[in-house]
Amino acid sequence: MVIVRQSFIGLALRFFSSFWSRWTRPGMAHKSNFHSKGIKLIKKVLGIVAAGALLVATLTGCASSSTSEGGLIGVAMPTQSSTRWISDGNSIKDALTKDGFTVDLQYAEDDIPTQVSQLEAMLTKGAKALIIAAIDGTQLTDVLQKAADAKVPVISYDRLIRDSANVDYYATFDNFKVGVLQATSLLVGMGVYASETSTSADGPNAKGPLNVELFAGSPDDNNATFFFNGAMSVLQPLIDSKVLVVKSGQTEFTKVATLRWDGAVAQKRMDDILVGSYKGGAKVNGVLSPYDGLSRGIMASLEAAGYSNSTAKGLPFVTGQDAEVLSVKSMIAGEQYSTIFKDTRELAAVAVKMAEALLKGETPETNDTTTYNNGVKVVPSYLLTPYIVTTDNYKKVLVDSGYIKEADLG
Ligand code: GAL
Repeated sequence: MVIVRQSFIGLALRFFSSFWSRWTRPGMAHKSNFHSKGIKLIKKVLGIVAAGALLVATLTGCASSSTSEGGLIGVAMPTQSSTRWISDGNSIKDALTKDGFTVDLQYAEDDIPTQVSQLEAMLTKGAKALIIAAIDGTQLTDVLQKAADAKVPVISYDRLIRDSANVDYYATFDNFKVGVLQATSLLVGMGVYASETSTSADGPNAKGPLNVELFAGSPDDNNATFFFNGAMSVLQPLIDSKVLVVKSGQTEFTKVATLRWDGAVAQKRMDDILVGSYKGGAKVNGVLSPYDGLSRGIMASLEAAGYSNSTAKGLPFVTGQDAEVLSVKSMIAGEQYSTIFKDTRELAAVAVKMAEALLKGETPETNDTTTYNNGVKVVPSYLLTPYIVTTDNYKKVLVDSGYIKEADLG
């Protein structure tokens, strides 16, 4: 391109200089045919300039389309209020860009109509595939019909899109296992389990009774139910045998769910529980929290009620998910007990591979074709593995793997 531009400029300059030398030749102004010759020359020069410009424009056009030879892919993420979705979005965009695609990456800040119109705009711009982490997994049916009509494949990212036949593949983690791990780490923290490999009460506090409170995620996110069911598969037997006591009595998903995964909503619910069920001096020993953003709200409530590791009323064991920087810092400070690490770099790579395979007419790799029924069909899925992280292993799992920079942890 550079060579073409230079030779075009060289050509133009040569014509201008020849024009200039004829124009300024002594006596030229007195020749009778000067005017018509001048006009011809100008026309010639302009013709060449126009042809050159056309050539440059054509070649430039070719060059810019070659940087996106794969075409446009739309990537819709729910919110930037959580660092994980920012990492997800960036990882997907980087991988697709490297493979020659143009990426339209959009965040909808947890507003459903915004996400729907972002997806519509992607289709209008000619997106060849969509990768979607839905805000509300049940609200995309109409826009996905438009995608299907335009033969645009759809990858459901991390959260299952429900109530639509037009979801081609699902890239996620083993979400039931996430819940199992959250409950397991809660029990290890409280000493009911001796270790993360325990499957029955074999720790120093195996008999309890210990007070726990339960939180779940957003009821419009399919994952929230999976996390809660996974956790309850571990906790329910211990609640039944009274090793664990839920003093608030709130153990149903609908009672403990937290709309839009909002930390402030969790904080308020914890405030209400503390006032309603722990007034008489009873202490909360553990809190099942499914997401770091909720965990921090829950701990703010507990701290406001006088729980602190520098007093006898120490903070309870609080779980989490996503290995967010703020929560890892909190863990290092001895506040939040654990989180679940889901490597979003791997998830992004799986989703990108799925989209690229579909665009090549190939069948994406899956490892689960039974679990994720979205209400209309079982969506073929690829499930990645989640891991418990505490202060014991955060360096190895998060820092050494490059997921979080040591400097970001202060
Ligand atoms: C879920 C996701 C979790 C967490 C939560 C809140 O869908 O699986 O890892 O990010 O949303 O954003």
